Amino acid sequence: MNSPIIQLYPHPVRERPLKGTYLAHNVRRFASGNRAFVYTNFITSLDGRIAVHNESTQEMQIPELIANDRDWWLFQELASQADIIISSGRYLKDWTQGNAQEILQVDDPQFAELRNWRCSNGLSPQADIAIISSSLNFPIPDILTACGRKVVVFTTADPKPERVKAIEKKDIPVIVAGNRKSVNGATMVNKLTELGYRTIFSSAGPKVLHLLLTSHVLDRLYITHTSRILGGNPYASIVEGERLNPAVDFNLTSIYLDPSGTDGLSQLFITYDQP
Ligand SMILES: NC(=O)c1ccc[n+]([C@@H]2O[C@H](COP(=O)([O-])OP(=O)(O)OC[C@H]3O[C@@H](n4cnc5c(N)ncnc54)[C@H](OP(=O)(O)O)[C@@H]3O)[C@@H](O)[C@H]2O)c1
Repeated sequence: MNSPIIQLYPHPVRERPLKGTYLAHNVRRFASGNRAFVYTNFITSLDGRIAVHNESTQEMQIPELIANDRDWWLFQELASQADIIISSGRYLKDWTQGNAQEILQVDDPQFAELRNWRCSNGLSPQADIAIISSSLNFPIPDILTACGRKVVVFTTADPKPERVKAIEKKDIPVIVAGNRKSVNGATMVNKLTELGYRTIFSSAGPKVLHLLLTSHVLDRLYITHTSRILGGNPYASIVEGERLNPAVDFNLTSIYLDPSGTDGLSQLFITYDQP
């Protein structure tokens, strides 16, 4: 974690420590009273894959061959700046089955400095969680609402009443935001802004990114671009859904070269903003 990275853009080119790189982006400053700031993060292979098929579970999962501690540290710096983190029912299922961990790792001593950062910025140790789901078919582990963490569920029109009842029984509000087909990102972000959230970090996958893009609410995209080609079917990229019409444009805001990624391979940490 101690080896430096190289800031390539914006100029001047310079070496800097990995730790603190994304905290220095200080995304909280971008939140306005009118609308929370929405950002997301993905790690991809050189061939653009964010997930590969796991033969034993028959599920898609983040490729172990590209996941690495240095990217995970920066992911934690991004999650640390969030008031609320968007996730999915898939994640709750994985968590309940012991196949996933807390998104924000502030209870791990390794990330104590990020917990301190949150506290010194007036934030609770854990960010709240927003789940986006149409099916509402997910378990709710007790740990989710432990220590006063708030959870809110956004769903599509006409949700199954028995699932709504079961979720609300756990003091988790279920908010209909959208039509029968999709949650509407703008309705969701407006509601979260109304509830007082200023920064919203999506840790969910390509379908949620699609809804954020079609609703024009994604402000910033972080991508870690690793240097390993994976291949494989099905092909999972950062976005999944119908063709975006119009296409969604971004400008590159910053780029860092990390010479010390997985197995000594280099990787790029890239930030894109809405023009
Ligand atoms: N490499 C990376 O950086 C990265 C990052 C994130 C995820 N991933 C991988 O990507 C894969 C999929 O991730 P994921 O399941 O978290 O995310 P996802 O594919 O974006 O969405 C998962 C669920 O969210 C709900 N959802 C999505 N869009 C919706 C919409 N428009 N309206 C209503 N509900 C909607 C659906 O839940 P219901 O089915 O409950 O209705 C859907 O099944 C996983 O293998 C994950 O590991 C990789």
